[in-house]
Amino acid sequence: MTDLIIRNANLPDGSTGMDIAISEGRIQQVGKQLPVNANETIDAAGNLVTPPFVDVHFHMDAVLSYGLPRVNQSGTLLEGIALWGELKPVLTQEALIERAMHYCDWAVAKGLLAIRSHVDICDDRLLAVEALLEVKRKVAPYLDLQLVAFPQDGVLRSPTAMANLRRAIAMGVDVVGGIPHFERTMAEGAESVRLLCEFAAEKGLQVDMHCDESDDPMSRHIETLAFHTQRLGLHGRVAGSHLTSMHSMDNYYVSKLLPLMREAGVAAIANPLINITLQGRHDTYPKRRGMTRVPEMLAAGIDVAFGHDCVLDPWYSLGSGDMLEVAKMGLHVAQMTSQQAMQQCFQAVTEVPARIMALDGYGLHPGCNADLVILDAGSSIEAIRLQSVRRYVLRRGKIISETPLPHASIRLDGRGEKVNFRI
Ligand code: FE2
Repeated sequence: MTDLIIRNANLPDGSTGMDIAISEGRIQQVGKQLPVNANETIDAAGNLVTPPFVDVHFHMDAVLSYGLPRVNQSGTLLEGIALWGELKPVLTQEALIERAMHYCDWAVAKGLLAIRSHVDICDDRLLAVEALLEVKRKVAPYLDLQLVAFPQDGVLRSPTAMANLRRAIAMGVDVVGGIPHFERTMAEGAESVRLLCEFAAEKGLQVDMHCDESDDPMSRHIETLAFHTQRLGLHGRVAGSHLTSMHSMDNYYVSKLLPLMREAGVAAIANPLINITLQGRHDTYPKRRGMTRVPEMLAAGIDVAFGHDCVLDPWYSLGSGDMLEVAKMGLHVAQMTSQQAMQQCFQAVTEVPARIMALDGYGLHPGCNADLVILDAGSSIEAIRLQSVRRYVLRRGKIISETPLPHASIRLDGRGEKVNFRI
């Protein structure tokens, strides 16, 4: 017996009038006018039904800490790191858990059901690690939280960072992080990449490094990351986050770099909201956009996802957990305005990050988890354009969030008829 059938859905691949039959938390069948009797029916009425949004780059230990202990005045990455350093010693586990849990509620309401969060391991108490492991356990029934051991102060620059990183992995953190551009020298940055990739290979783990988050075109740690990925056979298990220096690199050098990334199967994670606000701060005019080369990497066959990175923290004073806002900013900054490119921006906050996180059972095929979002939009492009309301969010076939449609009543003099349109 089918538990639930969603009728007349538009899917992200552009197909229309599709039914999705769900049983025991999984997708049973997808097709047109399925001859199925179900206990419950949802009429999608030509709206977009998609697997959930996925944020593959976030900092949940800093979320909702805006203004603590003060606001970032320069708006730069480096003041943000210094500010976080001021906040770290006074963090409490209770406050970390409370803020993270609150943000996860926002995420669910926005149809964001999988998050990869970096967690700073440079505090010897590993307070944030313990807190986010607790949050991971608490939210597991409705949100997949993957944690990255992130040495914010540099794995070589900070004397206890490597030992702390090993401890964090032993405690249950999933992924190995890094920040080569923050080490003392380029050579130390390269050495940190080697060290961390070898550790990940030894432990059979994925790697996700903050890499070249800089406007310096000579910051080329992504080359070293691609090198060690292919040397150690880590293909498909490594991601470079930010990669903003690539924006400023020499074109000839990039023409060599992208095939190396492709060969190694290294994925790229851009963070449009943060890159457009943090980068180019030392420029006068023209000011560089700072985001990495997204369309060029896609054309080279490299997986590119968009992450949210920050919400109300030392680095970013806005944000709401809405991956459609992230996709919209990415689309604008990268000038991805063709039909295909706009669809790629939607994929950059859904299926591509799901692949990078190696999420089990993600998708719209029979056997996949019945984790779905029904939006007030006819297509993925319209969803980005309108930042559409997430009418229903389903986890394992059960509605876990519902948002009513905003209602506008328009009265115009001399116009007798009522005009209906999406807002
Ligand atoms: Fe980040």
